[in-house]
Amino acid sequence: MLDKVKELDQEIKQFDINTPEQLELFRMKFISRKGVITELFEGLKSVPQADRRTVGQELNGLKNLAQERFETFSQLIDEQRTTANSAPPVDLTLPTIPNLTGTQHPLSLVRQRIIQIFERIGFNVADGPEIESDWYNFGALNFPDNHPARDMQDTFFVEKTSEGASSDMLLRTHTSNVQIRLMERQKPPIRSIMPGRVYRNETISARAHCMFHQVEGIYIDRNVGFKDLKDTLYHFVKEMFEPGTQIRFRPSYFPFTEPSAEIDISCQICGGKGCNICKHSGWVEIAGSGMVDPQVIANCGIDPEEYTGFAFGMGIERITQLKYVVNDLRLYTENDVRFLRQFEGL
Ligand code: PHE
Repeated sequence: MLDKVKELDQEIKQFDINTPEQLELFRMKFISRKGVITELFEGLKSVPQADRRTVGQELNGLKNLAQERFETFSQLIDEQRTTANSAPPVDLTLPTIPNLTGTQHPLSLVRQRIIQIFERIGFNVADGPEIESDWYNFGALNFPDNHPARDMQDTFFVEKTSEGASSDMLLRTHTSNVQIRLMERQKPPIRSIMPGRVYRNETISARAHCMFHQVEGIYIDRNVGFKDLKDTLYHFVKEMFEPGTQIRFRPSYFPFTEPSAEIDISCQICGGKGCNICKHSGWVEIAGSGMVDPQVIANCGIDPEEYTGFAFGMGIERITQLKYVVNDLRLYTENDVRFLRQFEGL
C-alpha cells in the first residue's frame, strides 16, 4: 500500500494540466469519489491494526497534495479563460455604429458667422449683463425719463428703486448697454461687437418674441465718419448674404445716434420681386445704425470733440430667417429635432 502511495505521489506531481480537459481528467482520477485515492482509503480496512495509523497519515498527505494541485490549476485555467474573453477578436471590416451627434442651433451658427466676419476686420467681442440698470439701457443712451422714444422698446422692469429712475433694474432691451460700459472703461480706439440675449414685452407670435438675440457694434476713434459705417456694413452684407444682394440706407431715428439710418437688403426669399416675407416691397430691414450722438460719447467720459464713431445693431433671428427661410420665430425655442436636424453639418 505504501508503494502505491509513493507511485501516485509521483504521478500527481508530474500530471500535465494545461487545458480544462486535462484538469477534468485529473479531477476524475484523483479527487472524485470513484478515484484512486478513495479506493485506497477503502483498502485501509484490510491493513493490520498496528500499521493503520502510519498508512492513514500517508494517505491523507496524498489526498491533500491532490487537492492543492487541483485548486492551483483550476485557478490558473480560470484566469486564462477570462483574459482570453476580455480581448475578443476585432473585425475591422464591419461597418461603424452610426454616431448620433447633435447639431449647432441655427442661431449659434449665424452668431458665429457674424462674429467671424467682424473679427476679420478688427472688431473684438464684448459682453455685459442681461439684468441692467435703467441708466445703461436707456439714460446714458439719451432716452430721457418718460420720453416717448422709450415706447420703441417695451420693457420688463425687474425692480423699482427709491434712488431715482436711472437705477431701476430691468431686462435689457438691446445690447447697447455693453457699448456704454465699454466706453466708460476703455480709451478709444474702441472697435467691438456685442452679441447677446435681449428682452422685450411682446406677445409671442410667429413674428415677435419676448426674448431674442442681437449683435450690436461700435467703432469710436478719431475721424470715424459715416463713410466708415457704410463701408463696414456693405462689407458685412457682402460676406453674409448671397452675391448680388442689394443694400440701401433709409433715414431713421434713434435717440443715441445722429444721423440714424435703417439698413435694408433686397429680399433673400424672392430676390426683390416681392413676397410675403418682404411684404411685397422687395426690401427687408436687417439693422439699425447711425453716428453715435456726441452727448452719448460725453455721457461715458470721452471727449466728443476729439472722438467720433458709429454704431449698429441687428437681430440674429432676423438674419437667420432670411438666410435659412425660417418663418416662425417660435421654432427657435421649441427644441423640435425635426427643425434642428435640418442644420446638420452647416
Ligand atoms: N439698439 C437699437 C435697437 O435695438 C439698434 C441700434 C444700435 C440702432 C445701434 C442704431 C445704432 O433697436
